[in-house]
Amino acid sequence: MNRADLDRRKAEKKRLGEYAANLVKDGMTVGLGTGSTVAFLLEKLGERVQNEHLQIKAVSTSEATALAARNLNIPVFDINDVSTVDLTIDGVDEFDPSFNGIKGGGGALLYEKIVAFVSDFTVWIADSSKAVKQLGAFPLPVEVTPFGYQHTMKALRKMGFSPECRMSGNKKFVTDGGHYILDCHMEKIIDPKALSVRLNALPGVVENGLFIDVVDEILIATDQGVDILKKKKL
Ligand code: A5P
Repeated sequence: MNRADLDRRKAEKKRLGEYAANLVKDGMTVGLGTGSTVAFLLEKLGERVQNEHLQIKAVSTSEATALAARNLNIPVFDINDVSTVDLTIDGVDEFDPSFNGIKGGGGALLYEKIVAFVSDFTVWIADSSKAVKQLGAFPLPVEVTPFGYQHTMKALRKMGFSPECRMSGNKKFVTDGGHYILDCHMEKIIDPKALSVRLNALPGVVENGLFIDVVDEILIATDQGVDILKKKKL
């Protein structure tokens, strides 16, 4: 990606983050996602908490987001100490026309899925590169236990998924939950729901990055602004 594309992508993420921060209303419990788009959401939300004296409770999908939010004076609670989550705003790595997505590029997929699961309404903020016709170009993250991960990897390889253990420098990347991530190169995912069930049935797999029937609305950046895609009711 050249400099101009990078700048455009960054401007899109900023626009999305700021737009999404305005969806938060006084009194809400808000799920905060993880990633570079969410970073802009946090900045704007922090400003609103400060300037408008918004009374909100936040729950976080990662330690990185919790730290950033607290630094911006956004009150972060343990997910076990809130009874409901009104709205969760998160990023996404890829989404298809049926609103299925791949998440976990930042390694936070497990907590992201749990927070989305308990949330009444979930919104993804997606720069223009994230919309695809079919999922799979983005490697699918699969979170696995360190115990026996070589065998889980072997099983994934046998299934034809070319897993690669995610690294952070010369060490294995470790998630907030203490697990490893195996990035699986699929190219095209024909049936995301069936694949998700298949992956989670493997011993050693904690969760996979396919998010099916999770999101209610997707905010996608356009050249000029933000488009709101609403999930069609079946
Ligand atoms: C974190 O694990 C991911 O699911 C992120 O939400 C996703 O990678 C989007 O990240 P960006 O906003 O940085 O593109």
